Amino acid sequence: MNASLFQPQYGKVQHGTWSTLYRRQRDLLQDKGAGLYLNALDSMTSLTELEIPRVERMAEELTEKTGWSLQIVPGLIPVDDFFALLAQRQFCTSTWVRQPHQLDYLEEPDMFHDTFGHVPPLMNPDFAAFMQRFGEIGVALQGQEQRVLELQRLYWFFVEFGFVEERGVPMAFGAGIMSSHGETQHAWALRDDLRKFTMEGVMTTPFTTTEIQTTYFLIDDISEVIRSLNHWFEGL
Ligand SMILES: [Fe+2]
Repeated sequence: MNASLFQPQYGKVQHGTWSTLYRRQRDLLQDKGAGLYLNALDSMTSLTELEIPRVERMAEELTEKTGWSLQIVPGLIPVDDFFALLAQRQFCTSTWVRQPHQLDYLEEPDMFHDTFGHVPPLMNPDFAAFMQRFGEIGVALQGQEQRVLELQRLYWFFVEFGFVEERGVPMAFGAGIMSSHGETQHAWALRDDLRKFTMEGVMTTPFTTTEIQTTYFLIDDISEVIRSLNHWFEGL
C-alpha cells in the first residue's frame, strides 16, 4: 500500500450510493456474469453491498489469495506507471465514489468501477497471472508507441470488455461491463454476435472510450491468453 495516499471516510449518502450500485449490478449480473467473476465477488468479505469497502482490507484478501495488492491513485495514471505496478502485482484504485445522480454515467472511472469491476477477477490465479505478465511485457516495451497501443487494445477488449465462455455459453466478464448497468444490458443484447478472441484480432481493432461499444470479443480460455501474449511478445 502506498502510505502517502489515504482513503477518506465517507458519509451516509456515499455509502448509500455504493449499496445501490452494488445491489443493482449484482442482481443484473446473476444470469449474465461469468461464474468465475461472481463466485470471487461473493467470496469476498471486504467487498460487499453494505458499505464502501476499505482498500486495505480488499488488498489483504487479494494478497492472501493470489499475492496481488492495491494502490490508491488519484485517478488515471501514466501508462508506464500502470504497467510497472501490474508487473509487481499491484492494481490501482481511486477512492472517490460517484454522486447519486451519476449512477449511470461517468467520464472517469470511480472506485465502484475500479474495485467492483476489477478486483474479483484478480482473485482468480489464471487471470492474476495474466495481469502480471501483461505488466511485465508493458514495462519491457516502454516507449514503443505502436506496441503499447496494441497492449492497450488487448486490455480494453479483454480486461475491460471481454466475455468468457463457460460451459459453452458466453458470459460477461470485463470490468467495464460488470461495473456498468447500461453497458451490461447493451453488451448482453449483443452476445450472439461476439467476435472470437485472437491476439491478432484484438490488437488490430481500434477502440474509443467515448462511444458505446460495438465490438466484443469472446475468450474461451484465460490461460490461453497468457500463452498467446507470450507468443506475440517473443515474435516481436
Ligand atoms: Fe477499468
